[in-house]
Amino acid sequence: MSEDLDNEAGDEAESASGTERRSFILEASTGLLGVCLGVGPVIAGLWGFVFDPFRKRDLPSKYNTGSGDVKEGHYLVATTDSLPEDGTPQRFEVISDKYDAWNFIPRQPIGSVYLRKLPGDLEIELEDGSKKVLKKGEIDCLQTTCPHAGCSVSYDGNTNALLCPCHNSEFELSGAKRTVGGKDNPSPRSLDRLDTVLKPIADGDNMEIYVEFMEFYTGVHEKNPVS
Ligand code: FES
Repeated sequence: MSEDLDNEAGDEAESASGTERRSFILEASTGLLGVCLGVGPVIAGLWGFVFDPFRKRDLPSKYNTGSGDVKEGHYLVATTDSLPEDGTPQRFEVISDKYDAWNFIPRQPIGSVYLRKLPGDLEIELEDGSKKVLKKGEIDCLQTTCPHAGCSVSYDGNTNALLCPCHNSEFELSGAKRTVGGKDNPSPRSLDRLDTVLKPIADGDNMEIYVEFMEFYTGVHEKNPVS
């Protein structure tokens, strides 16, 4: 009888120890699986975050800029055929691919310009104070950003001027500040002129117009590019 009791107690102890072992293995496996599931995405995310800039070195060049004999920073904006002969300014968006170390967004508007085909010679003043004459038929390009505080000017056919809706600055089609009827013109300088490059399209007179687009600091007299 006593021997039977001893055997029973031994079986129970063995069974309990087996159950503990299985339970330990199950918990350990579950823990390991949890770690793998939790840490895996973190490592994958870190990998992408850290190494993405290196993967994206082979980006396409900026949209329509820097190709052939047109320098980097010049954007295809329009063709000469799209401009009226009477010199009425036409507004165009400047489109470029945008990217930084982690993002690439193709063909985004980065600004806008007014282009016009000069109906006659136009004398302009350069940044150093010297004068230059743009010839009839040449393409003139102005930034649409008002130098006062950065609002966007728009062409007004009634006054044949470029007007800023924010604080009523007015500009001639040449970009020069103008004051009509003694009104205050808060802009510290004339509209900012941008350089253009023309590129022939196959045969014919039509040309592509590339603009050396840049932004300038507002609220100051000097025309200083934002780097
Ligand atoms: S932003 Fe144009 S007048 Fe002030």
